[in-house]
Amino acid sequence: MQNLNSLQIELMSSLSGYIIRIREILPSIYPHKPLACVNTYGCQQNVSDSERIKGLLCEMGYDITEDDTKADFVLFNTCAVRGHAEERVFGNIGRMKQLKKEKNNMLVAVCGCMAQQQIICDKVKKSYPYVDILFGTKNIHKLPEYIYKRLTGSPRIFDISDELSDIIEGLPIRRDGKLKGWLPIMYGCDNFCTYCIVPYVRGRERSRKSEDIIAEAKQMIKDGFKEIMLLGQNVNSYGKGLEEDINFSKLLRKINALEGDFRIRFMTSHPKDCTKELIDTVAECEKVEKHLHLPFQSGSDNILHRMNRRYDSKAYLELINYAKERIEGVTFTSDIIVGFPGETYDDFKETLKVVSEVEFLSLFTFIYSARHGTPAASMPDPVSREEKGKWFSELLKFQEEISKRNYNALVGQSFRVLCDSISAEGKLSGKTLSAIEIEFEGDASLLGSFVEVRIDKFTNKLEGTIISKE
Ligand code: 5AD
Ligand code: SF4
Repeated sequence: MQNLNSLQIELMSSLSGYIIRIREILPSIYPHKPLACVNTYGCQQNVSDSERIKGLLCEMGYDITEDDTKADFVLFNTCAVRGHAEERVFGNIGRMKQLKKEKNNMLVAVCGCMAQQQIICDKVKKSYPYVDILFGTKNIHKLPEYIYKRLTGSPRIFDISDELSDIIEGLPIRRDGKLKGWLPIMYGCDNFCTYCIVPYVRGRERSRKSEDIIAEAKQMIKDGFKEIMLLGQNVNSYGKGLEEDINFSKLLRKINALEGDFRIRFMTSHPKDCTKELIDTVAECEKVEKHLHLPFQSGSDNILHRMNRRYDSKAYLELINYAKERIEGVTFTSDIIVGFPGETYDDFKETLKVVSEVEFLSLFTFIYSARHGTPAASMPDPVSREEKGKWFSELLKFQEEISKRNYNALVGQSFRVLCDSISAEGKLSGKTLSAIEIEFEGDASLLGSFVEVRIDKFTNKLEGTIISKE
C-alpha cells in the first residue's frame, strides 16, 4: 500500500512537471494555439483511453480537432483484435507522410493494442520514419514526457515497456459526450481465449479500487451524465486481486445506491463469470439496464472447447433462461465468431440453434481473423474465406428475421426512454431500460430527459411518438 502510494505520487509529480514544461515551450514552437487530433479505432476501452489522452493534451495546452489535416499532433489509438482494422490504421498513418512535409513541427504518434506488439513496433520503426512516438497500452501517463522530449530534440521514441502493473489514477479526462460516459472499472484480461490478442496486448486483469470508481461515478452524475457505462474486457470478474471485499455485483449495488436519475450499463461480460448473483443484482437494481451483452462466440461445444471459453452451450442457455425468468423485459446481445479454425458447417449450425433459442436483440458478428502469437493462429484452418463468408451471410439473414419479428411485436407498446441523441435531420432517439433504441419527433431541449414513448412502427428501425414528458 505504502509503495503504491509513493509510486503514484512520484508518477503524478513527474507527469505534472512535463506538462508545465510543455506549456512553457509550445508558444515558442507554434505561432498559434497548437491543435491535436486523436484517431480512435476499436472497442470502448480505446474510446475511454482516448478521452484520457485528450484530457492530457488539453492540460498540455493543445486544443482538440477532429481534422487531422489541421493538427500539429496526430495520434492513432489502434486496435489489434482483427486484421482489417490494422490495415486501415497503416493506410491512415501513411497519409501523414505528406502532411508532415507541409507542416513545421508536426508530430505523429501511434499507441494502443497494435502498438503494444513487438512485431508492429519494429515495422513502424523501419517502414514509417515519419512516426515520431510509439507507446504501449500501459504508458499513456508518459505522453507528456514523450512529447516534451521529441519537441526538444530527442530521437524518435518507442516505448512498449509494460513493467508497470499498477493502474494510474487521477489522469485528467476530456469526455466526448455529456450524457453517456464510459467508466473503466478494470483493465486487461486473464482468459486467453485461443483466438484473442487482448491478453497479450492489454496484460493481466487489474481492477480499480471501488472508492476510485465511486468517486468518478459521483463526479459524472454531478456533471449531468445520465448513462454510465462500466467498462472492462471482462467486467464480471471485477475485484480479483483487490484487498477489499468486493465483486462486480457488489460494485453494481454501490453505484446503484448513488443518488440521481441515471442508468448503469456494463460491458463486456464473460458467460463463465456471469453468476446467478449477478443476474439477481441486475434484476433488483432499478438503475441497472435490463440488458446483458453476453458473448457466446460459438454454439458448438467442440469449438467452444478449442476456443478455451470454459462453458458449453447448455450452461450458456441455462444462464439465459435464468435471466429471462428473473429480469423483467430482459434483452440480450452477443458476439459471434464465424469460421474459427477447424469449424465445420455442422458446428456453425449449432451456432444458429443458440441464436434461434435466445432471440437476441442484435448481434456483433465477426469472421475469424488469425492473430499473430495466439494459439488459434497455428491451428489448421481448411475452410476457405469464401465459404466462411457464405456462413456469415446466412447468420446475418437468420438474425435479421428474428430481429424483425421481435421488433414488430413491440409495436403499440410504450416505454420510458432516455433521450440521448439527435440526428442531423432533427429526429431524437433514445433507449429503453432494456437497451431498445427508438427514434421519435422532439427537440434538442429534451436531450438528457426521460420521456414515455409509444412505438408506432418498425421500418428498419423502431419509430415512435412521445406520449408524456417527465
Ligand atoms: N477474430 C475474429 N473476431 C475476434 N474477436 C476477438 N478476437 C477475434 C479474432 N481473432 C471478437 C470476439 C470478441 C469481440 C470483441 O471480437 O467475438 O468478443
Ligand atoms: Fe479476448 Fe476472451 Fe479476454 Fe474477451 S475474454 S478479451 S475474447 S481473451
